[in-house]
Amino acid sequence: MDQNKLKAQVGQEAVKYIEDGMIVGLGTGSTVRYMVDALGERVKNEGLNIVGVTTSNRTTEQAESLGITIKNIDDVDHIDLTIDGADEVDDDFNGIKGGGGALLWEKIVNNASTKNIWIVDQSKLVPRIGDFGVPVEVIPFGAQHVFNAFEKKGYNPQWRMDGDQKYRTDEKNFIIDLKVGQIKDPHALAEDLIHTVGVVEHGLFLNRVDEVIVGRDNGPEVLHAHH
Ligand code: A5P
Repeated sequence: MDQNKLKAQVGQEAVKYIEDGMIVGLGTGSTVRYMVDALGERVKNEGLNIVGVTTSNRTTEQAESLGITIKNIDDVDHIDLTIDGADEVDDDFNGIKGGGGALLWEKIVNNASTKNIWIVDQSKLVPRIGDFGVPVEVIPFGAQHVFNAFEKKGYNPQWRMDGDQKYRTDEKNFIIDLKVGQIKDPHALAEDLIHTVGVVEHGLFLNRVDEVIVGRDNGPEVLHAHH
């Protein structure tokens, strides 16, 4: 099956988990786009009554255009369920996110959620995360020094670009993609990154997901994390 069909399949499957009255975290990316479309259908056809909290301005625009009520994260006291995509997921449910540049808000929404579900097509499952690269969001002030420090450590940094300009996140920060290859100890790398001055957040999502819905040729498969 073609990749977009698998993305649509898991997007449609995931909205079945959304119940009337829930506060729902809405992720970002091409897979989540299908999920938000399907959610818009449920709101319109069933009168499903939910409140969404988004992880990017892009998702806010899409959701509001479909008539989904969106609230700011600080105007809700909890989030029942967040549905988001991922760039890579390994057997231990470690993930990499941020291919779409939304990792910071995604991690904050993930952290505030009672339950987190990721929706991925089968190509995102890997034995060990890292080949995708690790997106790191950095404050623009002094960012070149952070980049140079990553280079010295052998992290193989690359600026995320938007044409000939450095890419800017929704928080107007930069992203440095670390081309580290498969990571032996993701927890050690995560610790090092988060303690680097100038780093706001990184795209390693470790022990942060409850269920992964995988799009497969013969239908969606649900994987349950053991924690
Ligand atoms: C956004 O920053 C990301 O974390 C996305 O969730 C991730 O990149 C998955 O996006 P796709 O569904 O487009 O692959």
